[in-house]
Amino acid sequence: MQRTMKRFGMWLAVLCLLGLWACQAPPKPEMVQPVRIPDGEIDPAVWGKAYPEQYETWKLTEKPVDTRRSKYKTGMDGGQVTVDKLSQFPYMALLFNGWGFGIEYNEPRGHAYMVRDQLEIDSSRLKSGGVCLSCKSPYAARLEKEMGKDYYAKPFSEVLAQIPEKDRELGVACIDCHNNKDLTLQVSRGFTLTKALQEIGAPAETLTRQQMRSAICAQCHVTYNIPKDADKKSEALYFPWQGSTWGNISVENIIKQIRNDPTVIEWKQSVTGFGMPFMRHPEFEYFTMGSTHFKAGASCADCHMPYTTMGVKKISDHRVMSPVQGDMKACRQCHAESTDWLRERVFSIQDRTVSLMLRAGYASATVAKLFELTHAKQAEGVQVQQDMYDKAKDLYMEGFLRQLFMGAENSVGFHNPAEGMRILGDSVAFSTKAEGILRQMLAQAGVDVPLSIDLELEKYVDNRGEKKLRFDPALEFKDPFGLQDKFF
Ligand code: HEC
Ligand code: HEC
Ligand code: HEC
Ligand code: HEC
Repeated sequence: MQRTMKRFGMWLAVLCLLGLWACQAPPKPEMVQPVRIPDGEIDPAVWGKAYPEQYETWKLTEKPVDTRRSKYKTGMDGGQVTVDKLSQFPYMALLFNGWGFGIEYNEPRGHAYMVRDQLEIDSSRLKSGGVCLSCKSPYAARLEKEMGKDYYAKPFSEVLAQIPEKDRELGVACIDCHNNKDLTLQVSRGFTLTKALQEIGAPAETLTRQQMRSAICAQCHVTYNIPKDADKKSEALYFPWQGSTWGNISVENIIKQIRNDPTVIEWKQSVTGFGMPFMRHPEFEYFTMGSTHFKAGASCADCHMPYTTMGVKKISDHRVMSPVQGDMKACRQCHAESTDWLRERVFSIQDRTVSLMLRAGYASATVAKLFELTHAKQAEGVQVQQDMYDKAKDLYMEGFLRQLFMGAENSVGFHNPAEGMRILGDSVAFSTKAEGILRQMLAQAGVDVPLSIDLELEKYVDNRGEKKLRFDPALEFKDPFGLQDKFF
């Protein structure tokens, strides 16, 4: 890491000399004289008295951002505050049917909304219990310590009620990322990230400042699993990083771990009837898996908390948001290219990712429907060949989990484009192979399978949950290269 940073610095110097670089690569902000904040102080307003500029920008995460600046964060009419992901990608409604994610699943928004959005979402999404607060409240670590097993298992509202009323809707707070004594970056979630970092041989205390500028985000922007006890009650929380190392947490290792741990079967996919594990927002895993920017020494904060001027001070912008919505200002700290060029690069990567995401998603949905058909035929007494069934199921799971990973990652491919293409390409290959085997198996059993499988999407995208959420065609993403009708 040190070496890469040095080399990065050297390249910067060379590029500066050549005049290719905007010679203003991440300047350090002004030295701040740390003010000692009382131990355990959670209230950001108290921290804000010492650091008013950071506090003011932190508060801005409450203000709606202009989602229209992004290409894949909103629909054509733009500007909506919460964006329905199941309308953007209707195949997800089919694949997730059977639990909360198939009812209501939204694009992320500002940090100030993390608890508020949970209070507004369809109640089926909160069934896991208090454990949901782990990524949402600065009280999480304290509650986990005090309540023990109850923290995971008790209903969400009961655990939320343990938090003082004024702080119940508080999102990520200063104390989540900073040490109160000297303001250095620090991991506050000992029960999750600290453990996971030890497991991959990179304990938090050995990380450099630049690595910490990504690690603090990994307290929440990672995939995690919630082991269930015999009564299907949540009993713990862990990151599936076993067998991985820093800078190499592969989707293969994650899949291996969650497919081999029967306690993390969290839901039943209704179309196939299969018990399933799940993956959430793996931003950290995906970005650090050898991306060009990671290898160049860039961190999450470089792109999402760029340096900005407040009055006479230069600070890290605590209004954490998409750099596209921030008009590419973050990128221009390092890149000399124009805003338009940089934006076009992001969109070009995202177009290619979405094209493959759709192919992988619909391929997986097609296999799911073939399993549904198989199960219906089996109920009528049709015998199928077991080894073919088992092989197809194994391939289906591999394909399903890969498209799940990419659909849950929030940059639509940008954080690591080459890796994204690899994962989605594999997903398509696994699902296509599964489809071939199922078709052969069904044909051998004397079942006529139509050339194109009707996915019956309306069944899954409309009238979802208590709010009766409906498909919004204006939000749907179609293949950017016009391949939609060729494939599905
Ligand atoms: C305590 C958990 C937590 C930490 C720490 C955290 N985030 Fe988040 N972040 C979230 C959650 C939860 C959301 C979604 C909030 C919502 O939609 O209500 C989110 C949303 C975001 C968004 C979308 C904002 C928007 O306007 O749409 C970005 C970008 C982001 N986080 C980046 C980061 C970066 C970079 C870091 C580290 C510097 C970080 N986050 C640290 C939990 C966290
Ligand atoms: C999601 C994590 C996160 C949260 C929450 C957060 N900060 Fe920061 N903060 C950072 C990062 C990253 C830096 C850059 C540190 C570095 O480069 O060493 C930073 C830097 C700072 C600095 C040093 C000067 C600067 O601007 O770079 C101050 C002061 C500061 N934060 C105050 C606060 C205050 C006050 C709050 C709460 C209102 C807060 N921070 C909340 C991540 C966070
Ligand atoms: C080289 C710049 C860069 C780095 C480094 C980077 N991101 Fe991003 N991130 C982006 C871009 C570009 C997008 C796409 C934004 C868009 O489409 O509006 C994005 C999107 C996101 C989103 C979704 C934002 C939204 O509005 O929905 C989250 C969350 C996020 N990144 C978190 C992270 C985390 C966590 C890390 C570190 C593990 C990280 N990013 C590292 C550039 C970066
Ligand atoms: C911390 C500095 C830094 C920031 C911030 C940054 N980049 Fe980069 N970027 C780099 C470096 C270094 C490289 C690799 C240099 C090279 O080989 O040309 C790179 C490479 C790239 C490439 C070529 C990628 C490839 O795989 O070849 C693109 C495109 C790019 N950046 C776009 C962006 C965009 C868009 C943003 C903002 C969302 C951004 N960068 C933010 C430093 C940065």
